Amino acid sequence: MRLLEIIAGIEHVKTFGVTNIEVTGVAYDSRKVEKGNIFICITGFKTDGHSYAKAAVDQGAVALVVERHLPEVDVSQIVVDNSRKSMAQIASAFYSHPTRKIKLIGITGTNGKTTTTYMVEKILRDAGYKTGLIGTIECRIGDEVLPQDRTTPESLDLQRLFTRMVEAGVTAVVMEVSSHAVDLMRVEACEFDVIAFTNLSQDHLDYHGTMDEYFEVKKRIFDDTSDSGVSHIINIDDKYGRRLVKPGRMNQLKYAVNEKADINADEIDLRNDGSDFVMQVNNESMPISLKMPALYNVYNALAAAGVTLAVGVGLNSVKDGLEKIERVPGRFERIDCGQDFDVVVDYAHTPDSLEKVLKAARRLTDNRLITVFGCGGDRDRGKRPLMGAVAAEVGDYIVVTSDNPRSEDPERIIDDILDGMRGLEEESFEVTIDRRKAIRNAILKAKKGDFVVVAGKGHETGQEVAGKKMPFDDVLVVKEILKEIV
Ligand SMILES: Nc1ncnc2c1ncn2[C@@H]1O[C@H](COP(=O)(O)OP(=O)(O)OP(=O)(O)O)[C@@H](O)[C@H]1O
Ligand SMILES: [Mg+2]
Repeated sequence: MRLLEIIAGIEHVKTFGVTNIEVTGVAYDSRKVEKGNIFICITGFKTDGHSYAKAAVDQGAVALVVERHLPEVDVSQIVVDNSRKSMAQIASAFYSHPTRKIKLIGITGTNGKTTTTYMVEKILRDAGYKTGLIGTIECRIGDEVLPQDRTTPESLDLQRLFTRMVEAGVTAVVMEVSSHAVDLMRVEACEFDVIAFTNLSQDHLDYHGTMDEYFEVKKRIFDDTSDSGVSHIINIDDKYGRRLVKPGRMNQLKYAVNEKADINADEIDLRNDGSDFVMQVNNESMPISLKMPALYNVYNALAAAGVTLAVGVGLNSVKDGLEKIERVPGRFERIDCGQDFDVVVDYAHTPDSLEKVLKAARRLTDNRLITVFGCGGDRDRGKRPLMGAVAAEVGDYIVVTSDNPRSEDPERIIDDILDGMRGLEEESFEVTIDRRKAIRNAILKAKKGDFVVVAGKGHETGQEVAGKKMPFDDVLVVKEILKEIV
């Protein structure tokens, strides 16, 4: 592709140097530049890509995309306002707009994204689509699992991934869209067919500052597509969801349990091992029997139904897919080694999700609810006392421990959590910093009929302590301990 063709497709302020040159590829990491590449200088949080421009040119870059002209570097330069946005547009153009060749579905919201994407994938697969999945647990092309390190990859990597998917014959891709991804323009040039909003509650305020700013970022993706044919699937039991609704807009499906919506769930029966409900869509009723417990999974199922109905899947196929999906790794994952009490591992790491998962467990036992949890370091501090308060309110005994302390002192994190548990009697909780010991203490405390929830890390297989990642898997640890005692 020639540089001038690339420029034609992006908003830019000015160009310096010749543009009638061939470009062999795109890079934003100077170490990955190959001869003939265009190098995009991204202004990051820690490093500024502009300071690597010279190194990129030494490696063979023939042109730069910059936010300010670099007179000291002697290659063609395109000056843009926002190089992240340009990178997304360039990547899409360079790979011939792969998202135009697939049904692209984005799921956004604080909680429930991963679960909903799994449900959508199952429905679409069974309905005959070849699917791609991009999210927290894994990235998949059909059955092939690819390594990945973040929920939503950088735009360049994402467009490359879409291209791989198109080449593999994928017809529909369902991806989690985190608020960071929207803010950092990773999904900028993605041409979505459907976007869904699950809910919004406190998380990531270290990054976004306030809930309103957090909401504005999520809202951007709906606003940007409001005049298009993109389907919006919105949870209107959520107060932020209601603010996304555009009165009279076509291609909008609202779902709810409490409010009257386009898709509703009635006659909800939350069982120990699943949930039954009757889905109401327009004037049709469809009984659904989910294998996943908890009310929030009824919400996730409504979201998945909305998405797949918008894609054009029939209601019977929606029912089939929802009823077949067994579980999502690390989400309300029951560990049964023959013990006479319940143990569940769950990824809840926000105040809202912790409350939801504990309330779901609360309904399932008349005996004691024992909670093991901690909070991540180097992230939103404000949610720590809120999570402490939730655990104190819903549970009977709490083992406060470490999650991923990262570079923070675990004791300081725990102090923040304890701030939310003031007034709780001493015999109702303990602090055990070592997560393995904490899980062991909780399990040893459990008596017949009790319910232990190990929250926070779900599917994760490592724990980040003092900046290092050590192997740690809640599910394996629980199994090891249970096997010792059963
Ligand atoms: N619809 C929901 N509303 C509230 N809590 C939920 C919902 N669905 C799942 N949860 C809770 O949140 C946890 C995380 O769920 P899930 O992984 O599906 O969310 P996510 O949005 O992908 O999270 P992340 O942003 O961390 O990737 C679950 O383990 C469960 O405790
Ligand atoms: Mg997720």
